[in-house]
Amino acid sequence: MTTGAGWDATADLVVVGSGVAGLTAALDATAAGLRVVVVTKDVVDAGSTCWAQGGIAVVLGDVPGDDTDRHIADTLTAGAGLNDARAVAAIVEGGPDAFAHLRARGAVFDAAARGGLARTREGGHTAFRVVPAGGDATGAEVERALVATARGTAGLPLLTGHVGLDVALDAAGRVVGLWVADDHGRPGLLRAPAVLLATGGYGQLFASTTNPAALTGDGIALALRAGATAADLEFVQFHPTVLYTGPAVGRRPLVTEAVRGEGAVLRDRAGVRFMTDVHPLADLAPRDVVAAAITRRMAATGTDCVWLDATTIDGFAARFPTVSASCREAGIDPRVDLIPVTPAAHYACGGVVADVDGRTAVAGLYAAGEVARTGLHGANRLASNSLLEGLVVGGRAATAVAADLAGPRHTLADPVARPAAAPVAERRVVQRAMSASAGIGRDAAGLAAASDAIETVTRRVVPADRAGVEDAALTLLAQAVLAAAGTRRETRGCHVRTDFPDRDDVWQRESLVVTLDGDGLPVVGVGVGALAGVA
Ligand code: SIN
Repeated sequence: MTTGAGWDATADLVVVGSGVAGLTAALDATAAGLRVVVVTKDVVDAGSTCWAQGGIAVVLGDVPGDDTDRHIADTLTAGAGLNDARAVAAIVEGGPDAFAHLRARGAVFDAAARGGLARTREGGHTAFRVVPAGGDATGAEVERALVATARGTAGLPLLTGHVGLDVALDAAGRVVGLWVADDHGRPGLLRAPAVLLATGGYGQLFASTTNPAALTGDGIALALRAGATAADLEFVQFHPTVLYTGPAVGRRPLVTEAVRGEGAVLRDRAGVRFMTDVHPLADLAPRDVVAAAITRRMAATGTDCVWLDATTIDGFAARFPTVSASCREAGIDPRVDLIPVTPAAHYACGGVVADVDGRTAVAGLYAAGEVARTGLHGANRLASNSLLEGLVVGGRAATAVAADLAGPRHTLADPVARPAAAPVAERRVVQRAMSASAGIGRDAAGLAAASDAIETVTRRVVPADRAGVEDAALTLLAQAVLAAAGTRRETRGCHVRTDFPDRDDVWQRESLVVTLDGDGLPVVGVGVGALAGVA
């Protein structure tokens, strides 16, 4: 394959993104005999997978008292009434096989002293079922194993430094490829009857996030522009504990929930534990509960952080090498010092509406991993269910693509249109407005003010390079999140409305869906179930 102006390439499947979902799908599709190209705008390991700390939530039958039903129940409790129960069951039940497949690809998980696999616990889990690797470096090990397989035995073409500009569609609205641009902004078309989006979430919508710089919501924007539907976009999960080192913009170091799983507790500026009064699971309550409680405590005590007391954990540095390194860099010794922590944007519970096989409402367009909304997470994701979802749905999507492409081949039609102009606002303005008004604690006036601030600096531009694609995606996601958050007049999961502080069961089981109007602006509707083409 050559790159540069005027190049054209042909594959059966183009996978956009090289994290756990994308590489799993690409490797499985290759094993099924498909010709696959993986496209990523950066280097292969620039996504969120690498930064996942805690582990993979999976029931393997070796933890007394734990079983699949209990994992399903914990997922539904965390999701606060908005999960799709069938999707939850399918993904949780698919965990053991997907996990075994990953280990067969060389991923190495931590051993317990008693033999077998180590386990830890995170917020919302009622059992020790999360399997870690490298102490707190699970995502890095998953990515390492998948990239090594892709580059080694699978010989998978990995096209780095190429950003997706738009999904290419034929006159009937079927996928015929992906418009891309290389690092110099030179355009090209990858022709393929199937495109799988695995681009992750949109943490960069906020000034402070656990997400690396590449997480700008590109895949959701591509899917919406291609005619797909997104849902649950208002449910942006804030991780309760990132290391607080003063006001900062960009990726912040995560302090994994497993630290609390191993016994650490949260304290306020007076040293008082405050989670015991909030939830029966106290410091290990579901993530939305802990993040909201921290936010309230910071406001009540006039601080920018609270403190994590991990001084009771023996061998902290060996158990949590990544967290230890971040603390050391900030001059904190967790053996004796309390760790200053604050919430930061972490995970998109919503995304492109897809079934558990990755199929979306657009023929030939698939989505898997954080970019997708399968119904697993509902209004709040259970910790460590994300690597699980990437593995299970990535594998199922490969099977679905192979099934959908089976049978007689037709000549791929030409695309009917090239990438078009989209609303683009200045990134810093978007991040400032979203952080001020659309984080933990939203109200109608703030959401309207954020909308106005963004609209004032928005112009229409044809995204032609990585920066343009990212800014257009962030602008669209900001508009969509603000519209959905303004519509949902209740507090549920990670969507906290200070002007509607209670859960209102009028909204129970009703996801808000987002599509684009003729001007490319988001329109909010109600009810994923009514969507054609998606199970
Ligand atoms: C953590 O380790 O706390 C994060 C894991 C996750 O987001 O699932």
